[in-house]
Amino acid sequence: MAEAAAAVGLWLAVVNGPNLGRLGRREPGIYGTESWEAIQARLERWWRPRGVALEFFQSNHEGRLVDYLEAAADRGCGGVALNPGALTHQSYVLADCLRALPMPVVEVHLSNIFAREDFRARSLTAPAAWGQVSGLGWLGYHLALEALWRRQRPGGEAEA
Ligand code: DQA
Repeated sequence: MAEAAAAVGLWLAVVNGPNLGRLGRREPGIYGTESWEAIQARLERWWRPRGVALEFFQSNHEGRLVDYLEAAADRGCGGVALNPGALTHQSYVLADCLRALPMPVVEVHLSNIFAREDFRARSLTAPAAWGQVSGLGWLGYHLALEALWRRQRPGGEAEA
């Protein structure tokens, strides 16, 4: 995938943290009924014909996420849509990792983290990200990719 991505020029990563591999089965009333695999297929269907290669990664382990993100940077990743799961609220490790990455990161949350328990309203990782999307379900990943894609194009951020 990464090789194919390099051939088309731009590759973006979509990364999910702990407990997000079980989307569709995990509290569907909050996180939706669509599986992580179905979301990947949706994103592929839209972005592949537009010449943007996507790489997907999910891990329940903080260190594996850091390893993946650092390796992605070394492989020329152009940007990351990242849902850190609960690490959002507790991981200085991940926040420090994001600060050191050369590529932009958009933090994504399926649910509106500001409308839930108090502990969720605080994100340690968002200040280290370029931007954040929260509460729009799977569409958040798509919008994060749209922002990252536009950022790579001359004048792209200003396009309507
Ligand atoms: C989440 C919100 C987090 O608070 C939670 O721990 C998750 C999912 C979301 O996508 O809404 O695992 O990141």
